Amino acid sequence: MSLISWSKNLETGIASIDEQHRILLEILNTVHATMVGSSEGDLDAAFQRLMDYTQFHFAHEEKLFEQHKYPFAKKHAQEHQKLKSDAEMRISEYKGGKIGMIDILAFLIDWLQEHIVNSDKKFGNFIAMKH
Ligand SMILES: [Fe+2]
Ligand SMILES: [Fe+2]
Repeated sequence: MSLISWSKNLETGIASIDEQHRILLEILNTVHATMVGSSEGDLDAAFQRLMDYTQFHFAHEEKLFEQHKYPFAKKHAQEHQKLKSDAEMRISEYKGGKIGMIDILAFLIDWLQEHIVNSDKKFGNFIAMKH
């Protein structure tokens, strides 16, 4: 069973962003599957993939902000920075045994969904208004 699945309320309406969010969700499901042993592979590699893809995705969004002269670009990019460092911190706490599996998974689910719903969708609305 998947940890999280896509839901309509995560849609921003921007195709490239929605597709990347789906991939992030999938990577998170892979992290979970690796943890519980239903997927072969290395957990460190799964975490690494999550952070690498996150970096790629944030850069993509930030490039779009620039192209569309998004007025909240700076604030949104600052959130990206914080999301990155928060996730790195939590992952290292998990690896160090300071927090458990449920804690890191709950954190990452919230980490991803909350930002999509509260910030990425605002950018989606902005783009929709411009057209
Ligand atoms: Fe995003
Ligand atoms: Fe974002």
